[in-house]
Amino acid sequence: MLPETDTLLAPPSLNQPIAFERIPTQIFADSNDASAAVAREIANIIRQRQLQGKPAVLGLATGSSPKKVYAELIRIHRDERLSFYNVISFNLDEYYPMQPDALQSYVRFMKEQLFDHVDIPVANYFIPNGTLSPEKVTEFCHEYDRHIDDLGGLDFQILGIGRNGHIGFNEPGSHVSSKTRLMTLDLTTRIDAALDFGGLSNEPKKAITMGVGQIMRAKRVVLLAWGEHKARIIRQAIEGTVSAETPASYLQGHPNVQFILDESAASELTRRKMPWLVEEVTWDKKMIRKAVTHLALTLEKPVLKLTNRDYNDNGLSDLLAQVGQAYELNIEVFNQIQHTITGWPGGKPNADDTNRPERATPARKRCLIFSPHPDDDIISMGGTFQRLVDQGHEVHVAYQTSGNIAVADDEALRLIDFVVDYNRKFGIESAETDRIFRDAAAFLKSKKDSERDTTDVRYVKGLIRRSEAKATCRFVGVPMEQVHFLDMPFYETGTVQKKPIGEEDVRLVAEIIREVKPHQVYAAGDLADPHGTHKVCLDAIMEAVRQLKSEPFMQDCWMWLYKGAWDEWAIDQIEMAVPMSPDQVMRKRQGIFKHQSQKDGVVYQGTDSREFWQRAEERNRTTAAFYNKLGLAEYEAMEAFVRWHF
Ligand code: F6R
Repeated sequence: MLPETDTLLAPPSLNQPIAFERIPTQIFADSNDASAAVAREIANIIRQRQLQGKPAVLGLATGSSPKKVYAELIRIHRDERLSFYNVISFNLDEYYPMQPDALQSYVRFMKEQLFDHVDIPVANYFIPNGTLSPEKVTEFCHEYDRHIDDLGGLDFQILGIGRNGHIGFNEPGSHVSSKTRLMTLDLTTRIDAALDFGGLSNEPKKAITMGVGQIMRAKRVVLLAWGEHKARIIRQAIEGTVSAETPASYLQGHPNVQFILDESAASELTRRKMPWLVEEVTWDKKMIRKAVTHLALTLEKPVLKLTNRDYNDNGLSDLLAQVGQAYELNIEVFNQIQHTITGWPGGKPNADDTNRPERATPARKRCLIFSPHPDDDIISMGGTFQRLVDQGHEVHVAYQTSGNIAVADDEALRLIDFVVDYNRKFGIESAETDRIFRDAAAFLKSKKDSERDTTDVRYVKGLIRRSEAKATCRFVGVPMEQVHFLDMPFYETGTVQKKPIGEEDVRLVAEIIREVKPHQVYAAGDLADPHGTHKVCLDAIMEAVRQLKSEPFMQDCWMWLYKGAWDEWAIDQIEMAVPMSPDQVMRKRQGIFKHQSQKDGVVYQGTDSREFWQRAEERNRTTAAFYNKLGLAEYEAMEAFVRWHF
């Protein structure tokens, strides 16, 4: 029995709008469930049109956001015999100029992600043509719109959103009724895509995009967003005013639109940031801390100086009514925050640990630090790392990936040169190493832009990063037998695009946990990019822990999550804050300097031009400043952790 309506996702909540939100929005725990729900809706539209003897006209997007939707559609095609014979699809955009078989082409993307795995007739899918001569582009664009209009418009349009609010490649400034056209790409868009092109200079400056007008005429529009890096623009699109500066905000005027978000992308929405303004909340300890810290930081007052009036004037009268006076609330929250601060991240031996983040026993713990790349340990938790070692714990570090794509070619050449000279001088050439290094040098000298490195070159680059990680461990005082390199296979593609996580990845992680039997595991809880290396590394740890969790040693194991180089935990989430003195900050900086290949500009710099030591210091100082603003002691810097209960 087919549903009456095309819309299978929870019905748009326009009848009961959520305060502040001007677009019906559904939040899922993660992008897997969300993508499955969207795929289900698309599959139903296709089937419904089949029963009506009509084509299903779909508007399709590329990028990371819809990938799982396409994977699920392929599964439905295979397992539930969904045919695509009646699908006619129009992609939103294509870079210009662009050859269809190029690595970055959206034609190639669509074939790999969907078309080659379903029975859509080749004549039924349309993607803007990146190979046209400039004088033919305008006519092509008119024809593209006409073709869609002749079919009665799009039945369903799937969208992602750029960090600048673009939909398709309708960059800020696009008109609400813009047509399919050639568009100059915004710098933010180009920076975000630079990874795919191996740098900005290799990237096309233009793209052909379907216009906003065509998207707005689609009978149904679903926009997907995953990850914290989308949270700010999602809030702007949903809660902000409609403006050409945020093209996605035009969707506020669409009669049948829905935004589908994961928790991270939704994290800046008022219903998540200040839920007490939107609905009735349960005032548990966490919610109270969230509200009180938010109030203190907004009013720029220390927690202990907040008054009843401050609470009443800022939407928190309900909290006062239920829990008590400002005085009691303030003290309760102040103490909660105070108890997160510890100079003993591995627990303080022989001390009362009732109000400490970590247990006192065993006094000497086995600690396992997972570092997704070879430098995340020192960048993100260098001060804590040093304290754990200094306080006598048995600290192991497991470097999850080789990090080999982030080494510049001339760094690799420098090492090759060194090895060749060294071997010659001491007469210790082995035919095999000599071959590896000479072939690698020859390849690098004639390497074309954005060409993928050979296995040998990747090996050399991996070796550079490995030696830097070892140098950091020597500096911090970790014996080499406690330094582990996992070289997880999902990472080894030689490109930014990684393989999906596999059994071997999880096995390697599980094996090291089983070997060390840690009392503490530290892991990068970096959720900013659902397809980024940090998230995959965390997924592997979570899966390994799930498999191991009934083992006796796991009953004694606590997991602490640190954030990667870009971000910090929200102040109300922090469960352990490890302060650093000015000297400790300097020492951490020296530890980061061991990663010479990552200094003076990295291969994939992104939007942030600061070096890693600068980012780390600013972030750690900011955390300390927040604590101080809340009225707690003034420290030079602080590293922050959240406990993950498995
Ligand atoms: C892709 C497209 C773009 C992307 C947007 C988000 O066809 O039109 O608007 O949807 O840039 O990209 P991801 O999903 O990679 O974050």
